[in-house]
Amino acid sequence: MTVQGGPARILFVCLGNICRSPLAEGVMRATAIDAAFPVEIDSAGTGDWHIGKKPDPRAIAVAARHGIDISAQRARQIRMSDFGYYDRMVALDASVLRDLRGLAPADGTALLELLLDHVPHRRGDDVADPYFGDDTAFEAALSDIRLGINGLLRSLAEGPDHARG
Ligand code: 4NP
Repeated sequence: MTVQGGPARILFVCLGNICRSPLAEGVMRATAIDAAFPVEIDSAGTGDWHIGKKPDPRAIAVAARHGIDISAQRARQIRMSDFGYYDRMVALDASVLRDLRGLAPADGTALLELLLDHVPHRRGDDVADPYFGDDTAFEAALSDIRLGINGLLRSLAEGPDHARG
């Protein structure tokens, strides 16, 4: 949570910001609204290949099949200022988490964590990259993301003492 008790600021991070982290942003927004939980969220990629682009059409489609519209999102790359602005930067896989740890400035305050660490029996697991897969891979990614977001919201509701689980 932010110091003033304002909305929790959360940035979801994957490689391209066109598949997994846009889905995480969309699921988190929908779930937090349903739960009336105050959050400020965004997503970003470690890579710069897709800056300014819409999510992958397959990601837009899988989200739409589950009642979530992510079509207005546009990809961006992480910025150094993110490490000071966000309370948590939530990586979608372990290699992205390693990259974030390597990039984090010394005065960065964001908690860097892995989404599926919030899911019992899934600690350390990646949300597998569906980019080179088919619709089944996008459904699997969305299913994992839902589990992770539910766990993340539980962690946020429990407060900072539980944040590092
Ligand atoms: P994402 O998937 O990290 O879930 O957005 C990818 C999208 C694009 C690429 C890799 C992963 N790419 O190599 O362009």
